[in-house]
Amino acid sequence: MDRGPDAPDTEVTDAFTRTAASYDRLVGLNPGYHDHLLASARALLEHVPADGPLRLLDLGCGSGASTRALVQAVEETGRSEQTELTGVDASSGMLASARIKRWPRWVRFRLGRAQDLGSDTTRYDGVLAAYLVRNVPERDQLVADLFEVLRPGGVLVLHEYAVRGHRRAAAVWTLVCWTIVIPLAALVARKVDLHHYLWRSVLDFDSVQQLQERLQRGGFTDIRHRTVGGWQRGIVHTVLARKPEQAEQTWPAEQAAPVEDEQPERAGDAA
Ligand SMILES: C[S@@+](CC[C@H](N)C(=O)[O-])C[C@H]1O[C@@H](n2cnc3c(N)ncnc32)[C@H](O)[C@@H]1O
Repeated sequence: MDRGPDAPDTEVTDAFTRTAASYDRLVGLNPGYHDHLLASARALLEHVPADGPLRLLDLGCGSGASTRALVQAVEETGRSEQTELTGVDASSGMLASARIKRWPRWVRFRLGRAQDLGSDTTRYDGVLAAYLVRNVPERDQLVADLFEVLRPGGVLVLHEYAVRGHRRAAAVWTLVCWTIVIPLAALVARKVDLHHYLWRSVLDFDSVQQLQERLQRGGFTDIRHRTVGGWQRGIVHTVLARKPEQAEQTWPAEQAAPVEDEQPERAGDAA
């Protein structure tokens, strides 16, 4: 069904809209949720260009938890006066919950789908996508669009659950979901569909290595990864990547340098 540009909710984002009223309470019960977002936001601020105006995008901003982390990281670096921060989300309910909070005047929100990012003409210095990529089925296209909306030298930070290929992390994830997360959702939100989907979607998602390789295939460089502390160690990850400075230089076909057959560089584990 074509729902029109004013109502971009899809099946997944509909589920977020239905849970929006209790979302903040639920994530508040998750130890480390806000601190981990802040660590990812700080990583973004550490790597964006040090001077000049700063255009930031929080893609999949939800009810504003990741936006709040970005605001704090921007304020810590004393760059509020230079910054424009846009939060975008496809869930009308989550966005409404973000909008009613108090924000500095340099923060704005927009209803929109990640899949429509290609039509965004702004070029950002930094993009944070926290717990978003796993929810988007066309991930290579999303990576291509993220590459496009960043200005050369711009930085992407993905903050995401990834357990594939790590038996301990996958087992802890399943245990915590079925003994704590899903029962809490039943108690607080009185519905479990979103959190059941959360459990399953994380098991089905890329490994952190695959995610980094996806970024590398999409043209990103300087790819780094780190995990968090606490029970989410090896489960929640920050993946940082840069659009190369020369990315927009295009060569006419007849002048293109011959491409040597070379081994692709492995995505690093360095951050
Ligand atoms: C788990 S929440 C995370 C929200 C926020 N980033 C945070 O860290 O708390 C994921 C958000 O992604 C949004 N989302 C999921 N799929 C999306 C899509 N295709 N386009 C835009 N937003 C999407 C959902 O509506 C939801 O608000």
